[in-house]
Amino acid sequence: MNYERRSASSIQGAFTVPGDKSISHRALLFSSLAKGKSEIKGLSTGADVKSTMSCLRQLGVKIEESGGAFKVYGEGKWAFSKPGSMIDSGNSGTTMRLLTGILAGQKFESAITGDETLRKRPMQRIVGPLSEMGARIVGSDNMTAPLRIFPVERLRGIRYELPLPSAQVKSSILLAGMFAEGETIVIEPVESRDHTERMLRLRKTSGPSGLETRIASDYEVMPAEYDVAGDISSAAFFLAAGAILPNSSVTARGITLNPTRTGFLDILESMGAKVKIENVREAAGEPLGDVTVSHSDLKGVEIGGEMIPRLIDEIPVIGILAAFAKGETIVRDAHDLRRKESDRIVAVVDNLDAMGGEVQELDDGFVVNGTGHLVGAEIDTYKDHRIAMAFAVAGLAAEGVTTIKNAEWAQISFPEFYDILEGLIVRDRKTSVAK
Ligand code: S3P
Repeated sequence: MNYERRSASSIQGAFTVPGDKSISHRALLFSSLAKGKSEIKGLSTGADVKSTMSCLRQLGVKIEESGGAFKVYGEGKWAFSKPGSMIDSGNSGTTMRLLTGILAGQKFESAITGDETLRKRPMQRIVGPLSEMGARIVGSDNMTAPLRIFPVERLRGIRYELPLPSAQVKSSILLAGMFAEGETIVIEPVESRDHTERMLRLRKTSGPSGLETRIASDYEVMPAEYDVAGDISSAAFFLAAGAILPNSSVTARGITLNPTRTGFLDILESMGAKVKIENVREAAGEPLGDVTVSHSDLKGVEIGGEMIPRLIDEIPVIGILAAFAKGETIVRDAHDLRRKESDRIVAVVDNLDAMGGEVQELDDGFVVNGTGHLVGAEIDTYKDHRIAMAFAVAGLAAEGVTTIKNAEWAQISFPEFYDILEGLIVRDRKTSVAK
């Protein structure tokens, strides 16, 4: 499917996005590890979370849906059954990395694979530490999926310093830790999203090399009721559009405000957008609230260091904001963007360049000189949901027609994206859509 978009003069209104993808994966995984019934409301509707669900079903977990809520009948961390075939994580890196941590501790052999993109993504970052714990995992070339996981007598707890901030790696090791003999400690030099620690209520302390998180070998996950907050990474596309387009103001209702995820809101503010946060509350140990962003003249910013993990998934749409901000925006220290669903540095730079943006590629990021002007172009999605959605936002503000090729990749995290976008557009001049 192609998505064609002409410029819009403004967007207005309030919207609700489906549940946060990171929290949704974890709610399903942790409910499956628990003994008893858990209930999940507001689960992400994206294909990635469906992948986690189908992997868990392959492992014998009973999951039922009724009226949009999910019931998970966990039977405890040792009760998974040997899958009849290879487990398929689809496009989802979180599914593969977290689930491998669980599978490494099981008493049966398993194998896990993914789609063409996921099979190219690096798995050594989990296989390294899991092997130190005594796991036996065999991968393909360059330690990529499919991964074959052989049973071992018992994993051993380790103390592991993460070489790069990664919530997926951290969570994978912590999950393996609950099957290991002795305590497992993960140390992060820079904090990454902490949903796992919050949901499992793990002890965190600050040590000499960074934040230390511990899990005991006899850790038992409790069944719970999860009410998943809206995904800030999905809301970010509309909030960015509200900041760029004149006379715009949009409100995201009930999105996660976990401080390890809100770097995008901080950057919007430092670029000069008006950001209002209201109705802050808590659900299942996670803060959430309503966020309104209104247009204002934007200016370029420098983004790097500890800020990067707090907005890693929002960097593509920050590239679009930068094109409409006065002066230079520099993104650095984001080398891992090259290892996401696509090489997001290349995808942002090439597509902005195709739209007439002034952009330069860096090894670990990019520099955009904001000219306030883009022209419609054919966008290569690079089979990446966030590239499709970021450039649909660019299309709203660009002159002429922008065509997002293979726009359906958005369904990986946010199937409702184009419909919500269309609903927010103020139709006071000629706009057109063709699918
Ligand atoms: C995620 C962590 C991040 C993020 C991804 C989801 C998670 O990846 O980019 O979309 O749910 O743990 P890394 O942990 O690899 O940085």
